Amino acid sequence: MHRRLVADLIVDVPDWPTPGVTFKDITPLLASPGGFSAAVTELVSGAPGDVDLVVGTEARGFLFAAPVALALGAGFVPVRKPGKLPRETYSQSYELEYGRETLAVHTDAVPAGARVLVVDDVLATGGTVAATVDLLRRLGAEVLGVSVVLELGFLGGRQRLQQLGVDVTSLVTTD
Ligand code: PRP
Ligand code: MG
Repeated sequence: MHRRLVADLIVDVPDWPTPGVTFKDITPLLASPGGFSAAVTELVSGAPGDVDLVVGTEARGFLFAAPVALALGAGFVPVRKPGKLPRETYSQSYELEYGRETLAVHTDAVPAGARVLVVDDVLATGGTVAATVDLLRRLGAEVLGVSVVLELGFLGGRQRLQQLGVDVTSLVTTD
């Protein structure tokens, strides 16, 4: 029931940001108090046990990762776009469905051995999460898995992450 509500509040925008790409717009989901709450509740209920830290990727990952962290009683760690973090960072570049991007994390953001859950809005090719996992493992974290609101199954992100030993939980999957 919760997941159906979440799915119905994600809107397809054809040919954006480039022709041939269908953008999945989560802003109606965020604007719906019941929908936003349902998404966070479902992410929390599917989370593994004993999460020390929830990691969110800029920008849309922050929107879900922060409330999930609060609900789990865990801390929150941001993985950010370049030039945003003020202290020493590790960075990792990756390919997106439409372009190239770099992510960075503070080198002291996660204690070695910490149990971390990655949360993002959408899993597409898996490039964003793969780069995030790479950064977290450089810090010595134990990556428990990744939870996303929407998985674009046809882009193979789940398989890519499985090859890295990372389990994916998604609330809504499109073929
Ligand atoms: C979007 C989305 C996911 C990522 C999924 O981020 O929020 O993080 O793409 O794609 P992938 O699985 O192919 O990596 P993007 O950086 O485009 O935008 P944002 O800053 O609004 O989160
Ligand atoms: Mg993103």
